[in-house]
Amino acid sequence: MIVGTVQAKQAFEARVAITPDSVKKLTKLGHEVIVESDAGLQAYYSDQAYRDAGAKVVSETDVLTQADIICVVQDLSSAQLSQLASGKIVVGMLDPYRNAQLDAYAAQGVTAFAMEMLPRTLSRAQNMDVLSSQANLAGYKAVLMAANEYARPFPMFMTSAGTVKPAKVIILGVGVAGLQAIATAKRLGAVVEASDLRPSVREQVESLGGKWLDVPMSEEEKEKAKSTGGYAWRPSEQYMQDQAEVVDKAVANADIVITTAQIPGRDAPRLIHKTTLDKMKAGSVLVDMAASSGGNVEGMVLGDTITTDNGVRIIGAANIPASLAAQSSDLYANNLVNFITTLFAADNNNALVLNMEDEIQTALAVTHDGLVRLQRQ
Ligand code: NAI
Repeated sequence: MIVGTVQAKQAFEARVAITPDSVKKLTKLGHEVIVESDAGLQAYYSDQAYRDAGAKVVSETDVLTQADIICVVQDLSSAQLSQLASGKIVVGMLDPYRNAQLDAYAAQGVTAFAMEMLPRTLSRAQNMDVLSSQANLAGYKAVLMAANEYARPFPMFMTSAGTVKPAKVIILGVGVAGLQAIATAKRLGAVVEASDLRPSVREQVESLGGKWLDVPMSEEEKEKAKSTGGYAWRPSEQYMQDQAEVVDKAVANADIVITTAQIPGRDAPRLIHKTTLDKMKAGSVLVDMAASSGGNVEGMVLGDTITTDNGVRIIGAANIPASLAAQSSDLYANNLVNFITTLFAADNNNALVLNMEDEIQTALAVTHDGLVRLQRQ
């Protein structure tokens, strides 16, 4: 089979879906690899590095018309999609719930695998988990972005000119990104507090040396939190009010706030309101990691850093993994190779097997056989 990739053209994107290392892995599996010229440039992979690894460097149109499997970082443009013949396979972060092109994918007979739909608790799927590989790096980098914007250091210093207090960091949303943000802020010497509407993460926060910010929960909510398979549940009005109070108190005294709260398929919850921002100290910094899904912080601007009237900086982080494009591409490309490997039957001449009974394929295939398979929320 021919596996290919095109250059990602979205704003703020710098990653590439196939790296020279993954070319070698795909070639070893018996595939031919073709790559659009300059596809890896922003991730510091030259066309020559791809050729040295065994790929052919070709035009965008050649990739779209010749490759059987097209690996992407984000969705193809409609012009690119229109060039795909029936039977082609597209694999990538297709943002399925907000993707307006699924009907077009189906109409063209393309099988589209949206990597975000992976069943994450399935152990054989963990090496394909793009959300985790990217969020982990993003959580780390968000802390560095905050530190860079903050006019004071993170650690405590005892100097002859006076004692420097450690920065107080609040992390809201403790999934993969939040846990890495806690670990990174702790490594830099900050005092860290964190909260999430999943009470089960309290132990993980404390094991990283963070303090848990507790929001009171009813028995009914505790049950709900247990039954959502690890994802966020829809909180009651009462919970949201209690949470807003806890958040207001903690954030008003914080130096750095990193918000990561997201709900798959829906807009991000608003966790920090203007009334709280108004109480914060001048020079404090917020990084809104949910900016691209609507934002956790009132007034944030996607892709920009703004300063409020009282001197608070809000970073509307657009695509943090892309700012670590070399590393995030390596991990992403590995995730894709691990998934693509499962599409071929090693015991049958490495034949392509599209099998909607397979629990990974059935979860990921948002279009197949002319149909949109995604259950829209
Ligand atoms: P995410 O990016 O979807 O959301 C980040 C965090 O925000 C989550 O922890 C969520 O509970 C929290 N959140 C959402 N709404 C909130 C609100 N209103 N207030 C406070 N917090 C809120 O999360 P991510 O990193 O994708 O992880 C989602 C789940 O998947 C987690 O339970 C994680 O442990 C689980 N997971 C499991 C894996 C495995 O079993 N191998 C691998 C990776 C993730």
